Amino acid sequence: MSKDTVTMINNRTEEKFEFDILDATRGPSVVDISKFYKETGMFTFDEGYTSTASCRSKVTYIDGQQGELRYRGIPIEELAENHNYLETCFLLLRGKLPSADELLDFDYEIRHRSFIDENLKQLIDSFPDNAHPMSILSSGVSALSSFYYEHLKNNDEEAKQEMASRIIAKIPTVAAFAYRKSLGIPIIYPDIERSFTENFLYMLRAYPGGKMKRTLNGVEEIKEIEIKALDTIFTLHADHEQNASTTTVRTVASTGAHPYVAISAGISALWGRAHGGANESVISQLDMIGDVKNVDKYIAKAKDPNDPFRLMGFGHRVYKNFDPRAKALKKLQDQLKNELDLDSHLMEIAHKIEEVALQDEYFVSRNLYPNIDFYSGVILTALKINRPMFTPIFVIGRTVGWITQLMEFRRTPYKITRPRQLYLGK
Ligand code: CMC
Repeated sequence: MSKDTVTMINNRTEEKFEFDILDATRGPSVVDISKFYKETGMFTFDEGYTSTASCRSKVTYIDGQQGELRYRGIPIEELAENHNYLETCFLLLRGKLPSADELLDFDYEIRHRSFIDENLKQLIDSFPDNAHPMSILSSGVSALSSFYYEHLKNNDEEAKQEMASRIIAKIPTVAAFAYRKSLGIPIIYPDIERSFTENFLYMLRAYPGGKMKRTLNGVEEIKEIEIKALDTIFTLHADHEQNASTTTVRTVASTGAHPYVAISAGISALWGRAHGGANESVISQLDMIGDVKNVDKYIAKAKDPNDPFRLMGFGHRVYKNFDPRAKALKKLQDQLKNELDLDSHLMEIAHKIEEVALQDEYFVSRNLYPNIDFYSGVILTALKINRPMFTPIFVIGRTVGWITQLMEFRRTPYKITRPRQLYLGK
């Protein structure tokens, strides 16, 4: 059977070229242009990679038109409703949901790997008091590569899985230490009696000696509903195929660098407000808008081509329909309304923005819908998490996606990532 191909005719030279079409199991087919330069003497041009598939992957599938997201074939809604974050990590890393025994082992491993070397603690201590936790996280994870240098040469699958569990387990600890450092309060070591998500909230909230806050009404223990809410947020952030930070991780990994250095680069890429930094910016923007009566003014600013102002938490490169993660978070917000102290003022402004934007021709014609970052901030605020920690929460959730994609990348022979350019200089 002959291969399906795409034909290109160069109008300048009348030359005809054929390129193979490769089919995906789901989603658009791709044109294989890997020999394009060799055959045509030209490069292709795709600024921002709007039409370019950069790798083969079996991890995550997104249908941006349908608003569909699946990890290893399982819809995100099902994972958010019926499974916890650690089950989702296992699914991403190993390709299947864990059995009860496998989950027990994995959970045990993650709890026991959650401690970090005391020397790393000293590094965190040396940052200025007002350092952003993202800056500490990125540096801290880069520094982890020197404590686990052996992961540079992981060859067998078991060692790779150990490297993955280790980073998933330690990231919340580095993030919590960074948080406490930014507040000038003593750090709290992990508590292996607590689950992954509960332990993170504990490291943020506990008093020295592991005591929880005491009020006139008694001890403020971490509520089950709070653990469930944060765990769902981690699950919804766990992976998102070839976004900017994941592409950064794959790019750094392609040079043969240490996996943790590649993750550190991913953290830096995520920090920008067009990517994971948007969750912090959304809440700052809601504050700036201040009142529902100002919403129209800011919508007008967002639409003005001469004004750099953008509505944070709106729009997505891939989703041209509702972001399914945002839908799940909106549902979670509704469920939490009676159980947690959600900021009704911020929610009122957010609802108004959503109402106006979703009916506005500018947003409708450009398919600009609320994304995951539009809803996460209100929930995180109700969990008493301060704003600079919003993007680190994204990091904690996404670490498993980065490491899974990195391992997939390194399992097969790979080339260094090295794009070309359209040179317009002297
Ligand atoms: N507010 C106002 N206009 C917007 C917005 C927005 N939030 N997003 C896109 N547009 C306009 C943009 O000006 C352009 O208009 P025109 O065609 O007239 O020039 C059009 O929509 C297409 O925008 P683009 O920048 O070409 O789209 P992109 O795919 O390159 O960018 C994006 C996607 C997410 C960076 C962008 O929508 C954005 O900056 N959104 C705000 C930041 C944000 O919420 N980021 C979180 C993304 S979800 C979390 C994650 O996975 O990272």
